[in-house]
Amino acid sequence: AAATQNLSYERHTAELTNCIIAFLSPILPTEEEYRIKEATRRQLERLAGKVSPGAKLLAFGSMANGFALRNSDMDLCCLIGKAADGSTPPFSASALVEELGQLIREETDFNVMPLPKARIPIIKISRPPTAELPYEISCDIGFENRLALENTRLLLSYAMVDPPRLRTLVLFLKVWTKRRKLNSPYTGTLSSYGYTLLALFFLTHVKRPAVLPNLQRIPPARTLSQEEVLLNGHNIYFYDDVATLRQEWASQNTENVGELLIDFFRYFSKEFTYSRDVISLRTEGGLMSKDNETWTAELCIEDPFQLGYNVSRTVTKDGLYTIRGEFMRAARILTSKADHVARALAELCE
Ligand code: GTP
Ligand code: MG
Repeated sequence: AAATQNLSYERHTAELTNCIIAFLSPILPTEEEYRIKEATRRQLERLAGKVSPGAKLLAFGSMANGFALRNSDMDLCCLIGKAADGSTPPFSASALVEELGQLIREETDFNVMPLPKARIPIIKISRPPTAELPYEISCDIGFENRLALENTRLLLSYAMVDPPRLRTLVLFLKVWTKRRKLNSPYTGTLSSYGYTLLALFFLTHVKRPAVLPNLQRIPPARTLSQEEVLLNGHNIYFYDDVATLRQEWASQNTENVGELLIDFFRYFSKEFTYSRDVISLRTEGGLMSKDNETWTAELCIEDPFQLGYNVSRTVTKDGLYTIRGEFMRAARILTSKADHVARALAELCE
């Protein structure tokens, strides 16, 4: 009887996996969307060059880390031009926001909102879709945010080690959290970046055998100098030779995405000890204990590079209660509606 049950669970999760892939495929960005966004980035980079000669405008976040859905926002980081000796000249992010914001307003048809006084000064620009450019563009431009570029590269490297499982899991979580309104840091829940770190923690540290290696713990192929691994005092080392990893890292874990997703929801509804533990990807076991000093928030997820920085600091007590309730609902729907998997997925994302 147990064998029959296992077989039918396997069949159920295999079908769920196919349904998730079919569900995601029409909401992934098209080639055209990527082209238009890349053209926009280049147009803005040209303007940034007028304000600070040699400035670069680099994409980070979902447009650059392999976890983009159709019409996602563009996150851009402006690296200001180098001085003749290669150093970064002193700059004021607020002044750059004012100046570049003004220039974009004069020379393009974007709506521009400079936020020079924000904690992290940014320019928000947007443009509604038109007949020729049928994509809404909504973009944040920040300055010299090199840590964000590095954590984007970390996420991209993970995405490339096991693309079918990690990417599918994260993309599904993003759609689901957006549709269920669990993805709004401004109103007490968690950012996409936070959910992505939860998925990475689950696949690297919870699942046995692990689905992913811990890239921050694989030793480098050659000894690296301090300058190479330190960025503003933060250790940003991780093993980034993805070509080698794809050959050598063979996970012993053979679970499909459907099974992993159900397990993810179960783990975060019942097993994870929110009151005691801090999720910390870079560590050996992936967890630290809350200490009542640095780590006092309801949900604690340490940034992979910025030690002591809580990526989930926006999650309130109510927010976490809602999120956990949703994890439970998801686990229930995905396991109980075994006879009609596609309908269960639709209900889950209602
Ligand atoms: P969507 O915009 O929903 O498509 O997701 P996204 O993948 O772009 O994630 P999100 O907008 O949440 O974050 C974009 C990027 O900003 C991340 O990849 C990080 O590089 C950076 N970021 C966001 N939140 C934080 C944070 O709390 N700490 C740090 N260090 N970086 C962050
Ligand atoms: Mg984004």
